[in-house]
Amino acid sequence: MIKNFTKIFALLSRREKHQICWLFGGILVMGLTEITGIVSITPFMGIVSNPDIIHTNKYLSRAYELLGFSSSNQFLFFTGVVVLSVLAFGNGFSSFITWLLLRFTFMQGHSLSERLLNKYLSQPYVFFLNRNTADLSKNILMEVHRVVGGVLIPGMQVLTKMVVALSILGLLIVVDPLLALTVAVVLGGAYATVFGLVRMKLARIGRVSAEARTQCFKVASEALGGVKDLKLFGRESVFLRRYSVTSRQFAGYEATSQILSQLPKYALETIAFGGILLIVLYLIGVKQNAETALPLISLYAFAGYRLMPALQRIFIGMTVIRYNLPALDILHDDLIHQDPGAKGIDYAGPVPALDFKDRIELRDVVYYYPNASSPAVDSLNLTIKSNTTSGFVGVTGSGKTTTVDIILGLLSPTSGKLVVDGVEITPENVRSWQKNLGYVPQSIYLTDDTVTRNIAFGVRDEEIDMEAVERAARIANLHDFITKDLPDGYDTLVGERGIRLSGGQRQRIGIARALYHDPKVLIFDEATSALDGITENAIMEAIQNLSRKKTIIMIAHRLTTVQECDVIFMLDKGRVIAKGTYSELIESSSQFRKMANVTQP
Ligand SMILES: Nc1ncnc2c1ncn2[C@@H]1O[C@H](COP(=O)(O)OP(=O)(O)OP(=O)(O)O)[C@@H](O)[C@H]1O
Ligand SMILES: [Mg+2]
Repeated sequence: MIKNFTKIFALLSRREKHQICWLFGGILVMGLTEITGIVSITPFMGIVSNPDIIHTNKYLSRAYELLGFSSSNQFLFFTGVVVLSVLAFGNGFSSFITWLLLRFTFMQGHSLSERLLNKYLSQPYVFFLNRNTADLSKNILMEVHRVVGGVLIPGMQVLTKMVVALSILGLLIVVDPLLALTVAVVLGGAYATVFGLVRMKLARIGRVSAEARTQCFKVASEALGGVKDLKLFGRESVFLRRYSVTSRQFAGYEATSQILSQLPKYALETIAFGGILLIVLYLIGVKQNAETALPLISLYAFAGYRLMPALQRIFIGMTVIRYNLPALDILHDDLIHQDPGAKGIDYAGPVPALDFKDRIELRDVVYYYPNASSPAVDSLNLTIKSNTTSGFVGVTGSGKTTTVDIILGLLSPTSGKLVVDGVEITPENVRSWQKNLGYVPQSIYLTDDTVTRNIAFGVRDEEIDMEAVERAARIANLHDFITKDLPDGYDTLVGERGIRLSGGQRQRIGIARALYHDPKVLIFDEATSALDGITENAIMEAIQNLSRKKTIIMIAHRLTTVQECDVIFMLDKGRVIAKGTYSELIESSSQFRKMANVTQP
């Protein structure tokens, strides 16, 4: 219990911690107003059952005289109004605090999901190689929701009602300690026993239902993401079944958890009302006379009337929390434990570009992917001079993309370093190094947005430089297609992941995106693989026109693509096995010749 409180507290920002302290103060006051309401009913009932008390009781007679009443009925009416006002005020105050609490908890949902997304986005690239994106989206959208609805809100309710229950109990103790303790033990014991019985079960189904949820998200996103293969192979029913199995399980767990929190209510209600009845009988029996017993009975009845729902809420709250606690653990792990070194997203504005003039070096770079037993890149030493064009070739899986990801600063070497103009690239300066880079990845990710917004990726609308967009589109051999063939020109929506475009068109938008900022270094990972020979030649020519003005790094399977490179690195199993110009490599490397599919003259 304490552990979970600490966990929740750890999730709050400093401001939120302050707010919650104030709210807790409010909750305490709320508890007090509740008992004032109950206490004030006693004198009223006392007067109803025995109007003489106005004159015999010293407080009442003082009030009666002080306020100048002339008849008991008048006084009775007055006390009624007072009691009513106290109750109304108490309820009003409670509503107000409840409103504040609800607002606080729902805002907490917003703040948690925002911070979680921030946390994920600020993780290094390698984080995303190990996590499933459906799982991450699920945490942001669903687990946060569960923590708010299933832990925070019930938690607040439990807290509120505990204060209420304890205040009522305190009041009863003042009136009749023995009786109050009996009430506490019977009621508390009944609830605690039932909670103890269902607790383990709830914790267990809470855990498995969290897993079922992850599975549902994954299957849905995989089915919809791979819809083309799915249709072709007629696998709709397979995915549907997979979804349906986990979704059904999930629904079952939800139902069980609700049943476990709702059903004991009836049994407990019976016990509790039975208890109240016994108390009434006891009071009448002990006091021997209904008249003196009436105020006490009404106090107990009213206290019970307030106590019962409070205990009920505490019980339901506790069970709901039990069931949803795994969501808190998930959030806690990702928000607090995940790589404490990673800073949040930098809102500080643009960092200045590192002034790149001379050379990019990889020195003894070794890279192991997480959990990989052999390195993807091994003892790599290479130098790329500025304003030259370099090519990387090698069989599939030889480490070309990994090498480029290291140069891009997306992966940091397991050992060795990336050095630019003699300066080692570290997490501190990697952003300013990346400012120099334009990159066309092996698979282009387009957003469901306009062509313009895809080229000027992530730039705010008012800051988009249309001239730069067009210039980039021209180099990528795309301008004519956009203006002539697309229905809305640059404002055409490309569909999710660019589904309304052909592979080659998507690739050229990727190229234009890399060119938009006019970077000093351009890196193409198989960037022309989806293009026909004529289009590829046209783009390569345009890119060659940039050579000598830019540092260009190209990965290619087709060796014709890298024919014009100043230097070609041939990779195998993560090592450079040969380097030189195209003709030098044809001379010296048999493997290169094999790739080029030419025999030695
Ligand atoms: N996220 C990853 N986790 C573990 N191993 C990986 C990961 N990504 C790549 N690898 C492994 O690293 C090696 C190099 O992969 P890389 O993507 O750099 O090859 P590549 O030369 O670009 O191949 P291709 O020409 O097919 O694109 C491969 O053996 C691959 O299996
Ligand atoms: Mg690759």
